[in-house]
Amino acid sequence: MGKVKTLDDLRKLRDELKNQTSLRDKSEHSESLVQVKVAMATCCIASGSRETMNYLADELDKRNIEAVVTQTGCMGYCYAEPTVEITLPGKEPIVFGYVDEKKADEIIEKYIKGGELVEGIIPMNYQNIDIDKK
Ligand code: FES
Repeated sequence: MGKVKTLDDLRKLRDELKNQTSLRDKSEHSESLVQVKVAMATCCIASGSRETMNYLADELDKRNIEAVVTQTGCMGYCYAEPTVEITLPGKEPIVFGYVDEKKADEIIEKYIKGGELVEGIIPMNYQNIDIDKK
């Protein structure tokens, strides 16, 4: 940001600094927070993922749910865009497909707040390396 010339400039600067501080605080204990990753490749954006991501970020904040909302590239589930991966603290990540605002609301209310699985989960067709070591 350039020079502060008006009260509005000062407010914008304050908000930017507040957001940066909040992000830094969250990144220091991110494992204990809900992690939300929204696929944001070009096709995802064309399918509405930006609106989904904004909705999730706004609503999680409004509902006082501490979460880290980030964007990622294509997750390989292009047929089901917008796709969102959610990791609750201590749980395996789950990917949801076709996440519009209505589905995002349902995911927040049922899965994030209550741990209840909802329709739209994309089954994993792979195992990660850690599972094979057990
Ligand atoms: S390009 Fe959007 S999920 Fe693949």
